Amino acid sequence: MLAGKRVLLIIGGGIAAFKSLDLIRRLRERGATVVPVLTRAGEEFVTPLSASALAAQKVYRDLFDLTDEAEMGHIELSRDADLVVVAPATADLMGKMAAGLANDLASTLLMATDKRVLIAPAMNVRMWEHPATQRNIDTLKGDGVLFVGPNEGNMACGEFGPGRMAEPLEIVAAVQAAIADGPMKGKHVLVTSGPTHEPIDPVRYIANRSSGAQGTAIARALAALGADVTFVTGPADVARPEGVRVIEVQTAREMLEAVQGALPADAAVFAAAVADWRVENASGSKIKKDGKGSLPKLEFAENPDILATVSRMKKGRPALVVGFAAETDDVVENASAKRKRKGCDWIVANDVSPETGIMGGDENAVVVISDDGADVWPRMGKDQVAGRLAAAIAKALG
Ligand code: CTP
Repeated sequence: MLAGKRVLLIIGGGIAAFKSLDLIRRLRERGATVVPVLTRAGEEFVTPLSASALAAQKVYRDLFDLTDEAEMGHIELSRDADLVVVAPATADLMGKMAAGLANDLASTLLMATDKRVLIAPAMNVRMWEHPATQRNIDTLKGDGVLFVGPNEGNMACGEFGPGRMAEPLEIVAAVQAAIADGPMKGKHVLVTSGPTHEPIDPVRYIANRSSGAQGTAIARALAALGADVTFVTGPADVARPEGVRVIEVQTAREMLEAVQGALPADAAVFAAAVADWRVENASGSKIKKDGKGSLPKLEFAENPDILATVSRMKKGRPALVVGFAAETDDVVENASAKRKRKGCDWIVANDVSPETGIMGGDENAVVVISDDGADVWPRMGKDQVAGRLAAAIAKALG
């Protein structure tokens, strides 16, 4: 629910702007107040009158409007909201944001705000894939801007691919996650998730069966309690959680770097199934058969242990570090030993033997091991495990 929340909605100039009118309705249905801001290009797609009528609010359009400035200055407008949403976020708007330009009302509000910013990109697939846009995405993610979408599909321009704006209800879910009130408000939590891919050559890699479902559910559950979540994920199958900062990585070493870059955090949950080894002699070009039946000789090196590295930090260690233990035998004994060895506070142990169907499945049966002993949870959905774990983390952080 969004009762009592104020959303400043910047509508950029793209064909997807028509969906932003529906977004206004959906946000209002949930109790939010929506204050629309139209860019010049946005006005080409939706009229100020329709945005204003649906929002039942004044629409802001011009940086130099003397009446607007007298009533509410642009600085105040940018801070008065609980969240700033940009939908559609065009390539142009994202470029301005990444470069720090402030030459119209929308870009000035985005520079002046002290609130979180959630963007729903929408553009032609080539524009999305353009190196300039990809650079801007990295910059914006690094600045803490939240993303929802874009989705893949047929586009108004007749092409196919990523670039379609997320649907209004997906944006609503991201808004809810980004401004959720709850016991975790003001707490930063880091979550790792998914498998890692360790290259053998440019086309082959070593991976594992992790779908990323449990880590994703934990990130969602923490965000629903109001936490500010940084989600570092390997190439997982499941859709990314809404309303959290997502950092995509491939390898264990990239994951460690992303984790270190995202600290400090109040708590960290290491749900990723990180590859223990990488191929040290990975080839820069595709390994070919030599026709004589000789086999490639792969040499392995041990990957850094991300959980142990963070658990043993002398300075800036998160107050609560939670690890996972994927075991196939003697689950509690092995997991307890792992907790000691890695130095984390809690370890969530699960049996990943193939007959349990847990790895890659929807359910989990876990034992949470802490200084207080081993707490056996009944088998339940991964979402329920996530909810219960998030509640326990909230309680532990106080
Ligand atoms: N982990 C990590 N970095 C690694 C390996 C594991 O951060 N290089 C984390 C996982 O995210 C998980 C915990 O350590 O929270 C335990 O992972 P698990 O695969 O069960 O343990 P391993 O260290 O791989 O031990 P083993 O394979 O010997 O059981």
